[in-house]
Amino acid sequence: MSNGRGPDSETGLGEYEKIDPPTSFAEQATVTDESIYDEFNDTWPDCWERAAATIDWSEPYECVLPNDEPPFEWFAGGTLNASYNCLDRHIEAGAKNRVAIKWESHLGETRTYTYQDLYREVNEFAAALRAQGVEEDDVVTLYMPMIPELPIAMLACARIGAPHNVVFAGLSADALATRLESADSEYLVTCDGYYRRGNAIFLKSKAEDARLKTPHDLSEMVLVEHLGEAEHLGETQHTYDELVSEHAGAEVAPVDRSADDVLFLIHTSGTTGEPKRVEHVTGGYLAHVTWTSQAVLDLKPGDTYLCTANIGWISGHSYVVYGPLAVGATTVMYEGTPNYPEKDRIWSLIEQNAVDVFYTAPTAIRAFMKWGAEYPAQHDLSSLRLLGTVGEPINPRAWQWYYEHVGNEECPIVDTWWQTETGGMMIATLPGIDAMKPGVAGPPLPGTDAKIVDGSGEAVPPNDAGYLVLTRPWPGMPLALRHGRRWGREGTSEIEVNGWNYFTGDGARVDEDGYITVLGRIDDVINVSGYRLGTMEIESAIVDVEGVVEAAVVSVDNAETGGVHAYVTLEAALSGDEQMRERIASHVRERIGPIATLDAVVFTPDLPKTRSGKIMRRFLENIANGEEFGDTSTLRNPEIVGELKSIVRDD
Ligand code: WTA
Repeated sequence: MSNGRGPDSETGLGEYEKIDPPTSFAEQATVTDESIYDEFNDTWPDCWERAAATIDWSEPYECVLPNDEPPFEWFAGGTLNASYNCLDRHIEAGAKNRVAIKWESHLGETRTYTYQDLYREVNEFAAALRAQGVEEDDVVTLYMPMIPELPIAMLACARIGAPHNVVFAGLSADALATRLESADSEYLVTCDGYYRRGNAIFLKSKAEDARLKTPHDLSEMVLVEHLGEAEHLGETQHTYDELVSEHAGAEVAPVDRSADDVLFLIHTSGTTGEPKRVEHVTGGYLAHVTWTSQAVLDLKPGDTYLCTANIGWISGHSYVVYGPLAVGATTVMYEGTPNYPEKDRIWSLIEQNAVDVFYTAPTAIRAFMKWGAEYPAQHDLSSLRLLGTVGEPINPRAWQWYYEHVGNEECPIVDTWWQTETGGMMIATLPGIDAMKPGVAGPPLPGTDAKIVDGSGEAVPPNDAGYLVLTRPWPGMPLALRHGRRWGREGTSEIEVNGWNYFTGDGARVDEDGYITVLGRIDDVINVSGYRLGTMEIESAIVDVEGVVEAAVVSVDNAETGGVHAYVTLEAALSGDEQMRERIASHVRERIGPIATLDAVVFTPDLPKTRSGKIMRRFLENIANGEEFGDTSTLRNPEIVGELKSIVRDD
């Protein structure tokens, strides 16, 4: 590669060097002082005052963190309101005409809400919810697509102190019923339907089904008429428009919530196991996401910002709604899919809105790569200042593609590691200070700490793989952890580590610079000739090969064809042949060692993925082992499972 800092362009091999933040970026960054790490370390937990200072408190807190053991009462004694922080305070500061939400539909219809517009509608809907009987601490479930009424309803709930429980609109009636029940929620706001790739999807009938399946009564249901196709409305108690116009001009005083009061509930999207209910509290959560929006995403008041996450997931809660609005930025909401009507949709959104900061997921970046660099090249992306990624490990080649073809080598990339449970970002580089390493998330953020441990809870040496544990409480920690429940993902919390810690369920390693590479979920570890290898290690080696876009590996028990099978998608113009198979297999052997033998390489147009875009290796394992697979309704692309089955049979 000509710039001398990428890997060898022929083979894709070689270590990436560190890439310093572009000077033009560093000069204007929100955080520029390298001493922040030492300062936060020396003054912990009081350092978090800096995060608390990014939001307004109606009653100041007495102490940042009174105890160093549970219960962790972050910002004890403080009271605040999240909707006040996202709306009123910006209006009071004179920004009423600044755009808060710029919404664009799949067909290019737009709606623009200034902070004043948003304030008005949030107040009206808050008044309407109250009139429906919603009281403080009642849980309101929001089952809605990416339409402005969703953040409006979230902020309306926050205003009256009613925790919201957003359920991703792509989930089934059963999933909604489970989440209504788990949240003990009697109120539901939903929508008649929405368009996806030009097809209408009727949400209300799913909501009705869920209602029938829920043992307790849903006392109220509010319907947003988004499709406006009356024949699908059926009987509903209230429509959103009716309620808002009945309460036109209403003002609702923001309810004072204590720092520890619940702001919202959300269920994890996990690739395995049952969804888990997570409760986030008002003070610590809002401080955490607002501070990280500034420090990591570098968001400033008035910036235009696009995050492609769906609000149904935690990334959308924290970094489409609460973080950017608390900062006073303009958050661009896009209802559609990135390749409809054309594969340049995201780039055209960035160009038209002159987006400053763009935050997306590795799975999207790999899809962009697959479609080709000509799509971003058709657009002027020079407004971009910073790029971010979240949700999965990003392989160096995808990182490099993002850096070159989207950022024009002028934008730092923040690879942010965090989870539904952490509420906000935990591991990432500070973009104005830290050098970047493609494929490596970075150090724990100032004020947080992490360790990589083995099965007996001992820290492993640098560069060895182990379990990622967080060893210091953080403000955005969820309610269960605050109360000291040992609580981790998927059966890992039984490992004892000295001192307080939270098991993330991820595998990782740390290098000499303290940078953490996240290897993926622990349950995605496979056994190869008696060695335990992270699927991500092998997959990362596969996607290093020129032409490969995405890969998933699984282990197969079957004696005849057993071993490690790789499922691989290639760039659009390529077709998989023996030569490609051999190139992939030999590259993996070179990168990882002779034990890493691929026993089969299967080319496929796509991989089975969860609705939030994570690869579901479980289905591939079922296919490879010739087993029956269960419910595919949790998949975003269930059709691929059948297709893969026939590809595997034909092979
Ligand atoms: C994975 C999404 C590597 C990880 C905010 C984590 C990542 C899970 C990264 C949480 C990253 C998230 N690098 N892996 N930068 N970010 N993950 O709850 O396995 O939907 O545990 O929250 O995604 O997914 P969740």
